Amino acid sequence: MATRVGDEFELTVNDAAHGGWCVGRHHEQVVFVRHALPGERVRVRVTERTSRFLRGEAVEVLEASPDRVEAPCPFAGPGRCGGCDWQHASLAAQRVIKGRVVADQLRRIAGTDREVTVEELPGSPDGLGWRTRVRFTVDAHGRAGLRRHRSHDVEPVDRCLIAHPGVEELGITDVTWEGVRDVEAVASASCADRAVVVTPSGSKLGPLPDLKASSAVLRRFKGGRVQQVRGRRGVRETVAGREFRVGAGGFWQVHPAAGEVLTGAVMDALAPREGETAIDLFCGAGLFTAPLAEAVGPQGRAMGVEGAVEAVRDARYNLKDLEQVRIEHGDVAAQLREWADVRADVVVLDPPRAGAGAEPVRLVAGMRPRAVAYVSCDPATLARDLASFEREGYRLTALRAFDAFPMTHHVECLAVLEPVRPARRHRERA
Ligand SMILES: C[S@@+](CC[C@H](N)C(=O)[O-])C[C@H]1O[C@@H](n2cnc3c(N)ncnc32)[C@H](O)[C@@H]1O
Repeated sequence: MATRVGDEFELTVNDAAHGGWCVGRHHEQVVFVRHALPGERVRVRVTERTSRFLRGEAVEVLEASPDRVEAPCPFAGPGRCGGCDWQHASLAAQRVIKGRVVADQLRRIAGTDREVTVEELPGSPDGLGWRTRVRFTVDAHGRAGLRRHRSHDVEPVDRCLIAHPGVEELGITDVTWEGVRDVEAVASASCADRAVVVTPSGSKLGPLPDLKASSAVLRRFKGGRVQQVRGRRGVRETVAGREFRVGAGGFWQVHPAAGEVLTGAVMDALAPREGETAIDLFCGAGLFTAPLAEAVGPQGRAMGVEGAVEAVRDARYNLKDLEQVRIEHGDVAAQLREWADVRADVVVLDPPRAGAGAEPVRLVAGMRPRAVAYVSCDPATLARDLASFEREGYRLTALRAFDAFPMTHHVECLAVLEPVRPARRHRERA
C-alpha cells in the first residue's frame, strides 16, 4: 500500500542533505527527514508525499547519535517553529554537517571534489543571540510568532533564542498587532539603532502598539517597497572602523561578526593593489566596495552595481569620501553588458540566494580579472555558477565556509576563482 501523509514508520537515516534534512529509504523510496541526525534510527511521521520522494519528521528517536543535544529552544521540534533546523545537534556537529552538504553540492553540481571545513564566527559561542533581523508573522489573534516549517501557520513564541538581544529588547511578541500581517525587527549590532518594518494586512496602516524600546517604524508595501513612517530609514552599522547607513528594508549580513569576517576573507583572497580596477557586483550598501576602494586607492577604481534603489543611495552616502568609487543602479547582467569593454583586475560577486547566473558569469570572465571572490549563501547555486566559471576558463582555487547562521541549515561560502591561463597583462605585472 502506498505511504500516505500521517503514516509512521521506523527508519535509519544516513547523510544530511541541503536544507536541514537527513536522508533514508523506506521500501526503496527516498525519505527526507527533519529533526534527525546522520546515523540515527528514528520513527518518522510523513508530512508530504511527491511522486519521487517523501518528506517527514522524526517524532521519536530510537537510536540517538552522540552528536544529539537537548534543543536549547522550547519551540524547536517536529511540527513547531521552522526557523531553525539543527537545534538538536551540537554546534561542532552542525558545522561538520554543513561542510559535508557544501562538499556534496560541489561534487554533484560542479564536479569538484573538496573537503569543506566550516569556520565558527566570533561572538556567539553557544550559537544563540546573533540574528539582527527577524521577521515575525502575525496570527489571526494579533500575536507575533514564527512560521512553522513549509507552512503558513504561525508558531506563537515568547522569544526567539537566536535573535540578537537588540531584537529581543523591542518585545515584538509581548504586544498585540492589529491589522498587521508581519513585522520585521531590525537591530544594529554596532549601536542602539532599532527599526521595525510593518506589513499591514489591509490597505492602511492602523495604530501600532507601543514597543518596549524606541525604534524607527517603516511600512512595507506589496512588492517589497518600504516607506518611512517614523524615525530613521534604517540603522547604522560599523565594520572595520567605517560606519554604514543601512536601510531597514535592504540587505545587511544578519550575524554581527559576518561583515568583518567576510570582508577580511575577501580582501585576503583578492589582495587588491593600488591603481587596480575592482568591481563589486550585488554591492548592497557597499560592504565590500569600501575596503576594495581603500586598497586600490585614488589611482584605482572601485565600481559597484546594485539593483535596490535604497541600497544604492546608502552605498553612495556611505562611500562619499572615496572619490574612486562609482555605484551604478541597475541589474547586474544589464550593467555588465554595458561594461563589455571594461577590464577588471578583481571582482566580488555576492548575489542573493538565486545565484549570479550563467550570463553574468560569462560577462565577468570576459573582463579577464586576475581573481574573483564569489560570496554565496546557497551552496547549490554557488556550485552551478562555479561550473559556469569553469566553462569560461576560471577554476576554483580556494573555498572557505562560515557558520554565519548557527542552528539553521544556512551557511555562507567564499569561493575564489582564478583564470586557468592568466591574462598577459597580469603575467607581465607579476
Ligand atoms: C546577498 S546581498 C549582498 C549585498 C552586499 N554585498 C552585502 O554583503 O551587504 C545581494 C544584493 O544584491 C541585490 N540584487 C539582487 N538581484 C540583483 C540584480 N539582478 N542586479 C543588481 N542587484 C541585485 C540585492 O538588492 C542585494 O542588495
